Amino acid sequence: MRKLLVTGGAGFIGSNFVHHVVAHTDHHVTVLDKLTYAGNLASLDGLPEERVTFVKGDIADSALVDGLVAAADAVVHYAAESHNDNSLDDPRPFLDTNIIGTYTLLEAARRHDTRFHHISTDEVYGDLELDDPERFTESTPYNPSSPYSSTKAGSDLLVRAWVRSFGVQATISNCSNNYGPYQHVEKFIPRQITNVLRGIRPKLYGKGENVRDWIHADDHSSAVLTILDKGRIGETYLIGADGEKNNKDVVELILTLMGQDAAAYDHVTDRAGHDLRYAIDSTRLREELGWQPAYRDFEAGLAATIDWYRANEDWWAPAKDATEAFYATKGQ
Ligand SMILES: NC(=O)c1ccc[n+]([C@@H]2O[C@H](COP(=O)([O-])OP(=O)(O)OC[C@H]3O[C@@H](n4cnc5c(N)ncnc54)[C@H](O)[C@@H]3O)[C@@H](O)[C@H]2O)c1
Repeated sequence: MRKLLVTGGAGFIGSNFVHHVVAHTDHHVTVLDKLTYAGNLASLDGLPEERVTFVKGDIADSALVDGLVAAADAVVHYAAESHNDNSLDDPRPFLDTNIIGTYTLLEAARRHDTRFHHISTDEVYGDLELDDPERFTESTPYNPSSPYSSTKAGSDLLVRAWVRSFGVQATISNCSNNYGPYQHVEKFIPRQITNVLRGIRPKLYGKGENVRDWIHADDHSSAVLTILDKGRIGETYLIGADGEKNNKDVVELILTLMGQDAAAYDHVTDRAGHDLRYAIDSTRLREELGWQPAYRDFEAGLAATIDWYRANEDWWAPAKDATEAFYATKGQ
Protein backbone atom coordinates (compact mmCIF):
# COMPACT_ATOMS: atom_id res chain seq x y z
CA MET A 1 0.00 0.00 0.00
CA ARG A 2 1.18 3.50 -0.81
CA LYS A 3 0.32 6.76 0.92
CA LEU A 4 -0.70 9.36 -1.66
CA LEU A 5 -0.98 13.08 -1.01
CA VAL A 6 -3.52 14.41 -3.53
CA THR A 7 -3.67 18.20 -3.80
CA GLY A 8 -6.93 19.67 -5.10
CA GLY A 9 -8.71 16.41 -4.29
CA ALA A 10 -12.00 18.22 -3.59
CA GLY A 11 -12.06 19.67 -7.12
CA PHE A 12 -13.45 18.09 -10.27
CA ILE A 13 -10.65 15.88 -11.56
CA GLY A 14 -8.95 15.43 -8.18
CA SER A 15 -12.12 14.04 -6.59
CA ASN A 16 -12.65 11.70 -9.55
CA PHE A 17 -9.07 10.50 -8.98
CA VAL A 18 -9.67 9.89 -5.27
CA HIS A 19 -12.79 7.81 -6.08
CA HIS A 20 -10.80 5.90 -8.72
CA VAL A 21 -7.89 5.18 -6.33
CA VAL A 22 -10.24 3.92 -3.61
CA ALA A 23 -12.05 1.68 -6.10
CA HIS A 24 -9.01 0.25 -7.91
CA THR A 25 -6.07 0.18 -5.43
CA ASP A 26 -5.34 -0.24 -1.73
CA HIS A 27 -3.52 3.12 -1.47
CA HIS A 28 -4.36 5.53 1.33
CA VAL A 29 -5.15 9.08 0.20
CA THR A 30 -4.64 12.33 2.07
CA VAL A 31 -6.40 15.19 0.28
CA LEU A 32 -4.97 18.69 0.70
CA ASP A 33 -7.44 21.27 -0.57
CA LYS A 34 -8.08 24.93 0.22
CA LEU A 35 -11.78 24.59 -0.63
CA THR A 36 -11.90 27.63 -2.89
CA TYR A 37 -15.23 28.28 -4.66
CA ALA A 38 -14.19 25.34 -6.94
CA GLY A 39 -13.66 22.80 -4.15
CA ASN A 40 -16.56 20.85 -2.71
CA LEU A 41 -16.21 18.40 0.17
CA ALA A 42 -19.45 16.75 -0.94
CA SER A 43 -17.49 15.39 -3.92
CA LEU A 44 -15.76 13.05 -1.43
CA ASP A 45 -18.98 11.87 0.24
CA GLY A 46 -19.31 8.12 0.65
CA LEU A 47 -15.58 7.35 0.66
CA PRO A 48 -14.36 5.17 3.57
CA GLU A 49 -12.74 7.18 6.39
CA GLU A 50 -9.95 4.63 6.80
CA ARG A 51 -8.89 5.17 3.17
CA VAL A 52 -9.24 8.96 2.79
CA THR A 53 -8.12 11.77 5.13
CA PHE A 54 -9.05 15.38 4.36
CA VAL A 55 -6.84 18.35 5.27
CA LYS A 56 -8.05 21.87 4.54
CA GLY A 57 -5.15 24.11 3.59
CA ASP A 58 -3.20 26.02 0.97
CA ILE A 59 -0.52 24.39 -1.18
CA ALA A 60 1.47 27.61 -0.79
CA ASP A 61 1.64 27.13 3.02
CA SER A 62 5.14 25.67 3.25
CA ALA A 63 4.96 24.55 6.92
CA LEU A 64 1.74 22.61 6.33
CA VAL A 65 2.93 21.20 3.00
CA ASP A 66 6.27 20.08 4.46
CA GLY A 67 4.66 17.81 7.07
CA LEU A 68 2.20 16.30 4.60
CA VAL A 69 4.81 15.63 1.93
CA ALA A 70 7.15 14.11 4.53
CA ALA A 71 4.43 11.61 5.49
CA ALA A 72 3.57 10.65 1.87
CA ASP A 73 5.13 8.13 -0.52
CA ALA A 74 3.98 10.16 -3.52
CA VAL A 75 2.34 13.51 -4.27
CA VAL A 76 -0.23 13.83 -7.05
CA HIS A 77 -0.66 17.53 -7.68
CA TYR A 78 -4.04 18.60 -9.08
CA ALA A 79 -4.66 21.82 -7.09
CA ALA A 80 -4.90 24.85 -9.35
CA GLU A 81 -6.94 27.84 -10.26
CA SER A 82 -8.41 26.27 -13.36
CA HIS A 83 -10.93 28.50 -15.11
CA ASN A 84 -9.79 30.53 -18.12
CA ASP A 85 -12.63 33.05 -17.81
CA ASN A 86 -11.68 33.83 -14.20
CA SER A 87 -8.04 34.22 -15.19
CA LEU A 88 -9.02 36.95 -17.64
CA ASP A 89 -10.86 38.84 -14.87
CA ASP A 90 -8.34 38.42 -12.03
CA PRO A 91 -5.03 36.67 -12.85
CA ARG A 92 -3.39 37.05 -9.40
CA PRO A 93 -4.78 33.88 -7.71
CA PHE A 94 -3.51 31.92 -10.74
CA LEU A 95 0.04 33.06 -10.03
CA ASP A 96 -0.27 32.40 -6.29
CA THR A 97 -1.61 28.86 -6.61
CA ASN A 98 -0.33 27.58 -9.93
CA ILE A 99 3.19 29.02 -9.66
CA ILE A 100 3.97 29.65 -5.97
CA GLY A 101 1.89 26.67 -4.82
CA THR A 102 3.67 24.30 -7.22
CA TYR A 103 7.05 25.73 -6.18
CA THR A 104 6.17 25.14 -2.50
CA LEU A 105 5.26 21.50 -3.18
CA LEU A 106 8.40 20.93 -5.26
CA GLU A 107 10.63 22.26 -2.50
CA ALA A 108 9.00 19.86 -0.03
CA ALA A 109 9.36 16.94 -2.48
CA ARG A 110 13.02 17.86 -2.86
CA ARG A 111 13.62 18.00 0.91
CA HIS A 112 11.97 14.62 1.51
CA ASP A 113 12.90 12.91 -1.78
CA THR A 114 9.21 12.21 -2.44
CA ARG A 115 7.89 10.97 -5.79
CA PHE A 116 5.93 13.79 -7.45
CA HIS A 117 3.40 13.73 -10.27
CA HIS A 118 2.33 17.05 -11.74
CA ILE A 119 -1.07 17.36 -13.44
CA SER A 120 -1.18 19.79 -16.31
CA THR A 121 -3.15 20.68 -19.39
CA ASP A 122 -2.79 20.59 -23.17
CA GLU A 123 -3.56 24.32 -23.10
CA VAL A 124 0.15 24.97 -22.48
CA TYR A 125 0.67 24.28 -26.20
CA GLY A 126 -1.66 27.08 -27.33
CA ASP A 127 -4.05 26.17 -30.11
CA LEU A 128 -4.13 24.58 -33.57
CA GLU A 129 -5.89 25.80 -36.71
CA LEU A 130 -9.25 24.11 -37.30
CA ASP A 131 -8.00 22.48 -40.52
CA ASP A 132 -4.51 21.61 -39.22
CA PRO A 133 -3.88 17.84 -39.53
CA GLU A 134 -1.38 18.03 -36.62
CA ARG A 135 -2.01 17.09 -33.00
CA PHE A 136 -0.02 18.05 -29.90
CA THR A 137 2.84 15.75 -28.92
CA GLU A 138 5.30 15.86 -26.02
CA SER A 139 7.71 17.86 -28.22
CA THR A 140 5.25 20.57 -29.33
CA PRO A 141 6.66 23.98 -28.24
CA TYR A 142 4.87 25.76 -25.40
CA ASN A 143 2.72 28.69 -26.59
CA PRO A 144 0.06 29.41 -23.93
CA SER A 145 -2.63 32.00 -24.62
CA SER A 146 -4.32 32.91 -21.33
CA PRO A 147 -3.20 33.78 -17.79
CA TYR A 148 -4.48 30.30 -16.80
CA SER A 149 -2.51 28.38 -19.40
CA SER A 150 0.60 30.52 -18.99
CA THR A 151 0.71 29.81 -15.25
CA LYS A 152 0.22 26.09 -15.93
CA ALA A 153 3.07 26.27 -18.47
CA GLY A 154 5.21 28.02 -15.85
CA SER A 155 4.43 25.29 -13.31
CA ASP A 156 5.42 22.57 -15.80
CA LEU A 157 8.75 24.30 -16.41
CA LEU A 158 9.36 24.53 -12.65
CA VAL A 159 8.84 20.76 -12.38
CA ARG A 160 11.31 20.12 -15.22
CA ALA A 161 13.87 22.43 -13.60
CA TRP A 162 13.49 20.72 -10.19
CA VAL A 163 14.08 17.34 -11.86
CA ARG A 164 17.15 18.56 -13.72
CA SER A 165 18.68 20.81 -11.05
CA PHE A 166 17.76 18.99 -7.85
CA GLY A 167 17.00 15.41 -8.89
CA VAL A 168 13.34 15.53 -7.84
CA GLN A 169 11.62 12.26 -8.83
CA ALA A 170 8.88 13.85 -10.91
CA THR A 171 6.70 13.14 -13.93
CA ILE A 172 4.27 15.46 -15.75
CA SER A 173 1.06 14.77 -17.64
CA ASN A 174 -0.76 17.17 -19.94
CA CYS A 175 -4.35 16.13 -20.48
CA SER A 176 -7.08 17.30 -22.82
CA ASN A 177 -10.51 18.58 -21.71
CA ASN A 178 -12.21 16.39 -19.12
CA TYR A 179 -15.89 15.71 -18.65
CA GLY A 180 -17.74 13.63 -16.07
CA PRO A 181 -19.32 13.91 -12.59
CA TYR A 182 -18.35 16.52 -9.97
CA GLN A 183 -17.40 19.26 -12.49
CA HIS A 184 -18.24 22.82 -11.42
CA VAL A 185 -21.23 24.37 -13.22
CA GLU A 186 -19.05 27.23 -14.51
CA LYS A 187 -17.46 24.83 -17.02
CA PHE A 188 -18.85 24.30 -20.51
CA ILE A 189 -20.54 20.87 -20.36
CA PRO A 190 -22.05 21.08 -16.82
CA ARG A 191 -23.17 24.65 -17.49
CA GLN A 192 -25.16 23.60 -20.54
CA ILE A 193 -26.61 20.48 -18.86
CA THR A 194 -27.70 22.40 -15.76
CA ASN A 195 -29.10 25.22 -17.91
CA VAL A 196 -31.36 22.71 -19.65
CA LEU A 197 -32.34 21.19 -16.28
CA ARG A 198 -33.27 24.70 -15.09
CA GLY A 199 -35.21 25.55 -18.27
CA ILE A 200 -32.55 28.07 -19.41
CA ARG A 201 -31.36 28.00 -23.04
CA PRO A 202 -27.72 26.81 -23.37
CA LYS A 203 -25.12 29.47 -24.26
CA LEU A 204 -22.56 28.97 -26.99
CA TYR A 205 -19.47 31.21 -27.20
CA GLY A 206 -19.20 32.79 -30.68
CA LYS A 207 -19.97 30.47 -33.59
CA GLY A 208 -19.12 27.36 -31.58
CA GLU A 209 -16.49 26.15 -34.05
CA ASN A 210 -13.81 25.77 -31.36
CA VAL A 211 -12.72 22.15 -31.02
CA ARG A 212 -11.92 20.41 -27.73
CA ASP A 213 -10.54 16.87 -27.37
CA TRP A 214 -12.80 15.32 -24.72
CA ILE A 215 -11.76 12.61 -22.27
CA HIS A 216 -13.78 11.14 -19.39
CA ALA A 217 -12.29 12.10 -16.00
CA ASP A 218 -12.12 8.42 -15.03
CA ASP A 219 -9.82 7.74 -18.00
CA HIS A 220 -7.63 10.66 -16.88
CA SER A 221 -7.42 8.98 -13.46
CA SER A 222 -6.40 5.59 -14.84
CA ALA A 223 -3.73 7.29 -16.96
CA VAL A 224 -2.30 9.11 -13.93
CA LEU A 225 -2.14 5.88 -11.91
CA THR A 226 -0.36 4.22 -14.84
CA ILE A 227 2.22 7.02 -14.99
CA LEU A 228 2.71 6.90 -11.21
CA ASP A 229 3.42 3.18 -11.42
CA LYS A 230 5.37 2.92 -14.66
CA GLY A 231 6.30 6.43 -15.87
CA ARG A 232 9.93 7.35 -16.47
CA ILE A 233 11.23 10.03 -14.09
CA GLY A 234 11.63 13.41 -15.78
CA GLU A 235 9.24 12.42 -18.57
CA THR A 236 6.11 14.17 -19.84
CA TYR A 237 3.10 12.16 -21.03
CA LEU A 238 0.18 13.52 -23.03
CA ILE A 239 -3.20 12.08 -22.04
CA GLY A 240 -6.04 12.03 -24.57
CA ALA A 241 -8.77 9.74 -25.84
CA ASP A 242 -9.26 10.83 -29.48
CA GLY A 243 -12.40 12.78 -28.54
CA GLU A 244 -12.29 15.84 -30.83
CA LYS A 245 -15.65 17.63 -31.05
CA ASN A 246 -16.58 21.23 -31.74
CA ASN A 247 -18.58 23.11 -29.10
CA LYS A 248 -21.62 23.47 -31.35
CA ASP A 249 -21.86 19.71 -31.83
CA VAL A 250 -21.52 19.16 -28.07
CA VAL A 251 -24.34 21.62 -27.22
CA GLU A 252 -26.58 20.08 -29.87
CA LEU A 253 -25.83 16.57 -28.57
CA ILE A 254 -26.63 17.62 -24.98
CA LEU A 255 -29.96 19.07 -26.12
CA THR A 256 -30.81 15.95 -28.13
CA LEU A 257 -29.84 13.58 -25.31
CA MET A 258 -32.02 15.64 -22.95
CA GLY A 259 -35.03 15.38 -25.27
CA GLN A 260 -34.92 19.01 -26.48
CA ASP A 261 -34.81 20.64 -29.91
CA ALA A 262 -31.13 20.55 -30.98
CA ALA A 263 -31.33 24.20 -32.12
CA ALA A 264 -32.70 25.55 -28.79
CA TYR A 265 -29.58 27.48 -27.73
CA ASP A 266 -28.22 31.05 -27.99
CA HIS A 267 -24.93 32.38 -29.33
CA VAL A 268 -23.18 34.73 -26.86
CA THR A 269 -20.05 36.93 -26.90
CA ASP A 270 -16.95 34.82 -27.53
CA ARG A 271 -14.22 34.44 -24.87
CA ALA A 272 -11.30 36.87 -25.42
CA GLY A 273 -8.38 35.04 -27.06
CA HIS A 274 -10.48 31.84 -27.28
CA ASP A 275 -8.22 28.96 -28.37
CA LEU A 276 -9.46 27.43 -31.64
CA ARG A 277 -8.58 23.78 -31.41
CA TYR A 278 -6.82 21.34 -29.08
CA ALA A 279 -5.94 17.80 -30.15
CA ILE A 280 -3.77 15.27 -28.33
CA ASP A 281 -1.55 12.52 -29.68
CA SER A 282 -1.18 10.13 -26.72
CA THR A 283 0.94 7.53 -28.55
CA ARG A 284 3.76 7.65 -25.98
CA LEU A 285 1.45 6.87 -23.06
CA ARG A 286 -0.29 4.08 -24.98
CA GLU A 287 2.81 2.45 -26.50
CA GLU A 288 5.35 2.88 -23.68
CA LEU A 289 3.07 2.37 -20.69
CA GLY A 290 0.26 0.31 -22.24
CA TRP A 291 -2.60 2.65 -21.18
CA GLN A 292 -5.96 2.63 -22.98
CA PRO A 293 -9.09 4.71 -22.32
CA ALA A 294 -12.18 2.81 -21.17
CA TYR A 295 -14.73 5.42 -22.37
CA ARG A 296 -14.48 5.27 -26.16
CA ASP A 297 -18.04 6.36 -26.90
CA PHE A 298 -18.42 10.10 -26.16
CA GLU A 299 -22.20 10.04 -26.58
CA ALA A 300 -22.55 7.27 -23.96
CA GLY A 301 -20.17 9.04 -21.56
CA LEU A 302 -22.07 12.30 -22.02
CA ALA A 303 -25.42 10.57 -21.44
CA ALA A 304 -24.05 9.12 -18.17
CA THR A 305 -22.80 12.59 -17.17
CA ILE A 306 -26.24 14.10 -17.87
CA ASP A 307 -27.80 11.37 -15.69
CA TRP A 308 -25.37 12.24 -12.90
CA TYR A 309 -26.29 15.97 -12.96
CA ARG A 310 -29.98 15.07 -13.11
CA ALA A 311 -29.61 12.86 -10.01
CA ASN A 312 -27.33 15.21 -8.06
CA GLU A 313 -28.99 18.62 -8.07
CA ASP A 314 -28.12 19.01 -4.35
CA TRP A 315 -24.45 18.92 -5.35
CA TRP A 316 -24.60 21.59 -8.08
CA ALA A 317 -27.56 23.84 -7.19
CA PRO A 318 -25.73 25.93 -4.53
CA ALA A 319 -23.24 27.23 -7.14
CA LYS A 320 -25.61 27.65 -10.07
CA ASP A 321 -27.19 31.07 -9.39
CA ALA A 322 -23.88 32.80 -8.58
CA THR A 323 -22.28 31.29 -11.70
CA GLU A 324 -25.04 32.51 -14.01
CA ALA A 325 -25.03 35.96 -12.32
CA PHE A 326 -21.27 36.17 -13.06
CA TYR A 327 -21.73 35.24 -16.73
CA ALA A 328 -24.66 37.68 -17.06
CA THR A 329 -22.33 40.58 -16.13
CA LYS A 330 -20.21 39.61 -19.17
CA GLY A 331 -23.12 39.13 -21.56
CA GLN A 332 -22.35 35.40 -21.68
N1 LIG B 1 -10.66 20.50 -16.27
C1 LIG B 1 -9.96 20.03 -17.30
O1 LIG B 1 -10.52 19.70 -18.34
C2 LIG B 1 -8.46 19.85 -17.17
C3 LIG B 1 -7.77 19.30 -18.25
C4 LIG B 1 -6.40 19.06 -18.12
C5 LIG B 1 -5.74 19.38 -16.94
N2 LIG B 1 -6.46 19.94 -15.92
C6 LIG B 1 -5.71 20.23 -14.67
O2 LIG B 1 -6.25 19.35 -13.68
C7 LIG B 1 -6.17 19.97 -12.41
C8 LIG B 1 -7.53 19.96 -11.75
O3 LIG B 1 -8.47 20.65 -12.59
P1 LIG B 1 -10.00 20.72 -12.21
O4 LIG B 1 -10.75 20.98 -13.44
O5 LIG B 1 -10.34 19.56 -11.37
O6 LIG B 1 -10.02 22.04 -11.31
P2 LIG B 1 -11.06 22.51 -10.20
O7 LIG B 1 -11.06 24.00 -10.28
O8 LIG B 1 -12.35 21.77 -10.32
O9 LIG B 1 -10.39 22.03 -8.83
C9 LIG B 1 -9.26 22.66 -8.29
C10 LIG B 1 -9.18 22.28 -6.82
O10 LIG B 1 -7.98 22.86 -6.28
C11 LIG B 1 -8.29 23.48 -5.04
N3 LIG B 1 -7.35 24.59 -4.84
C12 LIG B 1 -7.27 25.75 -5.55
N4 LIG B 1 -6.29 26.53 -5.05
C13 LIG B 1 -5.72 25.83 -4.02
C14 LIG B 1 -4.65 26.11 -3.13
N5 LIG B 1 -3.96 27.26 -3.19
N6 LIG B 1 -4.33 25.18 -2.21
C15 LIG B 1 -5.03 24.00 -2.13
N7 LIG B 1 -6.07 23.71 -2.94
C16 LIG B 1 -6.40 24.61 -3.88
C17 LIG B 1 -9.73 23.95 -5.18
O11 LIG B 1 -10.35 24.16 -3.92
C18 LIG B 1 -10.34 22.81 -5.98
O12 LIG B 1 -10.82 21.79 -5.12
C19 LIG B 1 -5.61 21.38 -12.65
O13 LIG B 1 -4.24 21.36 -12.38
C20 LIG B 1 -5.88 21.62 -14.12
O14 LIG B 1 -4.93 22.50 -14.67
C21 LIG B 1 -7.79 20.18 -16.00
